[in-house]
Amino acid sequence: MNFFSFFSQNFDDVLVPADHISRSYNDTYYVDSGTVLRCHTSAHQAELLRDGHTHFLVTGDVYRRDSIDSTHYPVFHQVFWAPIFCNLLTFFSSFVFRLLKHSFIYSYVKMQMEGFRVFSPKEWEASGLDGTSYAAEDLKKCLEGLARHLFGAVEMRWIDAYFPFTNPSFELEIYFQEKWMEVLGCGVTEQEILRNNGQLDSVAWAFGLGLERLAMVLFDIPDIRLFWTTDERFTSQFTKGKMGIKFKPFSKFPPCYKDMSFWINESFTENNLCEVVRGVAGDLAEEVQLIDNFTNKKGMTSHCYRIAYRSMERSLTDEEINELQRKVREQVETKLNVELR
Ligand code: PHE
Repeated sequence: MNFFSFFSQNFDDVLVPADHISRSYNDTYYVDSGTVLRCHTSAHQAELLRDGHTHFLVTGDVYRRDSIDSTHYPVFHQVFWAPIFCNLLTFFSSFVFRLLKHSFIYSYVKMQMEGFRVFSPKEWEASGLDGTSYAAEDLKKCLEGLARHLFGAVEMRWIDAYFPFTNPSFELEIYFQEKWMEVLGCGVTEQEILRNNGQLDSVAWAFGLGLERLAMVLFDIPDIRLFWTTDERFTSQFTKGKMGIKFKPFSKFPPCYKDMSFWINESFTENNLCEVVRGVAGDLAEEVQLIDNFTNKKGMTSHCYRIAYRSMERSLTDEEINELQRKVREQVETKLNVELR
């Protein structure tokens, strides 16, 4: 599927409200006013339902303007998936297995998985539940089983969530590196989507799972940028098809921190700042963190950001970092129109 996708597929077809942030230039990469870089593979569910599919799997790269830290990257892949009545876990794990195998050979896994499953009334009527509750139970049961199968004894929790295309909606979080990390979003598909696309009198559930994050948990990979490195000290640690490997960190080069403060304006957003930083420093930017924020008596607001520069592969020189920081400052001033302090 083409990664340029239509505005309507990403948003209108999946009931994203007109004022939802995902439609904004701040969150999504626009090619022109009617075309965006696909921001989720959920974008394909309507057309697949219209084509008569009730169980499907879509893989694709997806793109989001986002923050810079160890679990976010502006491109990743999604699989939109719907098992029929095959053995869910066997199918799923072998699928993950194939993707991960592939990813470590070519070291470009940036993936998220999404699944979709439609039920007809005969499947829930015998249970005594209404269709939505039946689907929600089935969804949680399947995904908990999946998470246990994949991750074993990790701590996990369900969080109530909001997605425009599902109701109820949930996120599954896993405790990883002393923080709760979201690994998947899911929910019972809005009836309107099913009805609009020819699925009358049925219910469905769907989920989207971040494959890099899944791989981070499975293999103890601490930073999402590592999936993009071609450094053999990383790639050689993984063997085709072998699960159960734990990543052994190789000598970490020291980070270098640079702070910058500026008076923000009304249009300032952190995502715009991160785009500028990525544009200049690429994967050398490890983290961009707001460390100070105050408003003076005149009502002007100042932000101080700390940028961590670090290479996965080598030591950075002072000159190199100073030059990066000089360019970042220059572009922050010209592109974001803020006043440096
Ligand atoms: N599309 C959502 C995302 O990309 C994930 C999701 C998929 C949520 C399916 C609910 C159902 O974040």
